[in-house]
Amino acid sequence: MDNAEKFYITTPIYYVNARPHLGHTYTTVVCDTIARRQRMMGRDTWFLTGTDEHGQKIERSAAAAGCSPKEFADKVSGEFRALWDRMKITYDDFIRTTDPRHMRGVQAMFTRLQERGYIYKGSYSGQYCVFDELYVDAAGVGAPCPECGRPTETVHEENYFFKLSAMEAPLLKYYAEHPGFIRPETRRNEVIAFVRSGLRDLSVSRTSFKWGIPVPGDPKHVIYVWLDALANYMTALGFGSDDERDHKKLERYWPADVHMIGKEIVRFHCVYWPAFLLAADLPLPHSIIAHGWLLFEESKMSKSRGNIVRSDTILDTLGQDALRYFLLREIVFGQDGSFSFDALVQRYNADLANDLGNLSSRTLSMIARYFDGEVPYPSASARTSADNAIEALAQQTIADFHAQFEQFQFSRALEAAWTLVAAVNKYIVENEPWAVAEREDTDSRPRLATILHTSVEALRIVTALAHPIIPEATARIWMQLGLGDIKQLDLRRLAWGQIPLGTKLGKVEPVFPRADKSVVERMQQMEQENSAAPVAPTVAASGTTATDIPQTGTPAIPQTGTSPKINASTTKTEKPGAPLIPSVGMSGTSPSHTVGDKITIDDFLKIEMRVGQIKVAEKVKGADKLLRMEVDIGTEVRQVVAGIAKAYDPEKLVGRKVVIVANLQPRKLRGLESNGMIVAASLGEEGLPVLAGFLEDVPVGAKLK
Ligand code: MSP
Repeated sequence: MDNAEKFYITTPIYYVNARPHLGHTYTTVVCDTIARRQRMMGRDTWFLTGTDEHGQKIERSAAAAGCSPKEFADKVSGEFRALWDRMKITYDDFIRTTDPRHMRGVQAMFTRLQERGYIYKGSYSGQYCVFDELYVDAAGVGAPCPECGRPTETVHEENYFFKLSAMEAPLLKYYAEHPGFIRPETRRNEVIAFVRSGLRDLSVSRTSFKWGIPVPGDPKHVIYVWLDALANYMTALGFGSDDERDHKKLERYWPADVHMIGKEIVRFHCVYWPAFLLAADLPLPHSIIAHGWLLFEESKMSKSRGNIVRSDTILDTLGQDALRYFLLREIVFGQDGSFSFDALVQRYNADLANDLGNLSSRTLSMIARYFDGEVPYPSASARTSADNAIEALAQQTIADFHAQFEQFQFSRALEAAWTLVAAVNKYIVENEPWAVAEREDTDSRPRLATILHTSVEALRIVTALAHPIIPEATARIWMQLGLGDIKQLDLRRLAWGQIPLGTKLGKVEPVFPRADKSVVERMQQMEQENSAAPVAPTVAASGTTATDIPQTGTPAIPQTGTSPKINASTTKTEKPGAPLIPSVGMSGTSPSHTVGDKITIDDFLKIEMRVGQIKVAEKVKGADKLLRMEVDIGTEVRQVVAGIAKAYDPEKLVGRKVVIVANLQPRKLRGLESNGMIVAASLGEEGLPVLAGFLEDVPVGAKLK
């Protein structure tokens, strides 16, 4: 392959704080389709994916699950990998940011930037958004993040800074000289406007948490997660390694041809990443392609919105080709697109079961019946203008398909291919080969041979073009065409008239069984069961740990990728799962609560919960777990003593809004009267508290019910 042109494509590396869902699958399927096609075009292709495992968000999710960050990351990263394997995604490497090769590479990158004078030490005081892992301009304690609206945290840190401000002019110059660097155009314009508005230096280390890659020579600091994460595209090829073989790989494949990303991470990829690379004097990727979002129930599919659909549900019912076809055909690449089970089944039935499925089964079964399963010889004298029209359309389709695909317009490319499918199906109906076969005149046999030759050629061309998108079904059709392994096909040479005449067909079988209506219900039911079945205990009082409560079964994720049976009865297997959801408890006192018992609404209404704001917070002398707080609950200021000192610095709590159980009998802790209880999640074995809060601004004293 050394003489072949190379092609290197990457997905974003996915965070391990959320399990894989259809949104992640979308990006991975797009990249897999591109990679498969590039291989068929003779390019020496390298396809990288992986998981992003460091940062405070993951550290907290792990604490919530009651395990170490590494254990947590191992589990979720394993789920991503298992899904890609199940879907037969053709990735060449899977990088984890906890891999030693990556950690070494990131440190090498940091040192290189430092040695080149782009990193200096400074200090920062302000608001930090844990979700976005970003310092933000927000008004003050608890103020919402301007990016995502979640409450920010106040931090005072001494950090390493990257001289991003110095990269403003070089970046703008680079964008101007490389018009194809950021696509689509709208994203490019946004990025240019953002850089033009001015860049401030970027903090590239953190001391507020530990779960990251230590700064070389100053391990109190961990390297900023985005510097860590972005470097994966090079560390996976061996950047920072001493091994000669790795250098060859890096030389061979870097710079990347395509970084495929979702539109929400454009700034990191199109501003920070090229800035780091320019500063490090390393080559920049050729292109960064941002796609839109997959929407479900009208908003972006994401764990935090709670509207995810798991890919497994579709794999268990309709199979991977149906899913891949839908994602590429239905969503106009670059724009947001909606997912629905109805639309999925409709597309599947219309385009695959009906259009392509019919073309394939009737063409092949007629060749089997009338020509003993051998591709017939067409006859020039039996040819009509209808055959010429199909040939011309097929040649045009090849050209259009390639042109659209090169522009990432997958839906248009497929539309072009299916125009050919529809035309051939119409041609078959109009030319009635079954009627010609009944005739006994001398012209009928050559005409029948010509009709079926025209049909089979068109089928072969569509099958070849569609292979990167629906690899399983097309590989089967290819075998049925008697052409062997479709992977051997050189797509660059695809043209009309190449099927060897007399080719013996393989066993003819239906490829796309029709899906009946019950499949939609079944998929909906599977998703409902999945979201209803707790992966971990949901409610426990403080003092009770997650492991005290019996777990119910999690939904089935069979690991095999066998061909789907399309009906409503998919079998399920049990899959043990470590808890990913924290328990919720009360911090301050230990209420008696029997797990499993139900209370009436009247019981619940007896509890008065209010929004309070912490005015004063200080440690209680001689008690390392306790904080004494004065909390404004709208009608009065209460003294509350709570066991949260291990998780919260008192000074960071002042101003924070919390939930208070306001009608508890007072009790004394270390001689101090506690008048109420603060609501918090209780995480892991140690019952680490995390205070309950609100995304929206809520007035002090507001009642919860
Ligand atoms: N870890 C960072 C990326 C670091 S890359 C150096 C991250 N991870 S993520 O888990 O949040 O994944 C984000 C990516 O997943 C998106 O950019 C997109 O590729 C894909 N998607 C996740 N949800 C999606 C949709 N609902 N729709 C489309 N793509 C989605 O950001």
